[in-house]
Amino acid sequence: MILPIILYGSSILRKKSTTIFDPDELGSLPENMVQTLKKAGGIGLAGPQVGMLKDIFIIDTTPLINVNNEIAPIEKGYINPEIVSIEENFSWYSEGCLSIPGIFEEVKRPEKVDVRYLDFNFILHEETLNGIEARIFQHEFDHLLGVLFIDKLSTIRKALIRNKLKQIRNKK
Ligand code: CO
Repeated sequence: MILPIILYGSSILRKKSTTIFDPDELGSLPENMVQTLKKAGGIGLAGPQVGMLKDIFIIDTTPLINVNNEIAPIEKGYINPEIVSIEENFSWYSEGCLSIPGIFEEVKRPEKVDVRYLDFNFILHEETLNGIEARIFQHEFDHLLGVLFIDKLSTIRKALIRNKLKQIRNKK
């Protein structure tokens, strides 16, 4: 089932998500999120974006591979994710968000992160992520804390997109 995507301006996107204790509480959510992300053509989707304040997100790099075939194909689900440590090296990347359509801005983040999460079978993984997976993981992880990529922009960049943001807020 395709779920409606919550847009910028909704207070849901500013709330903290909660730990998932039992895979049964998810029901068809993982499957629905995968379908919703595919339909939207995005590369990541977090629980709050479909109105579920739970610690879950998915990554699908397929849309990027169509543009750049050097990108690793990743289709993964992450439950109760944690960032264990971050690397000192930072990089810039133009980010967008399905909840903030039409806005793309360069965001600075650590290049490498050590993470821990459960997959959709509730199996624990501890991994060092880099490249595109590290980037998307951090963006989606922020969603679970009620943080959006536009929060990380400079005052000047924020001022420049203020009107576009207002339009999205009014659309919701
Ligand atoms: Co997003």
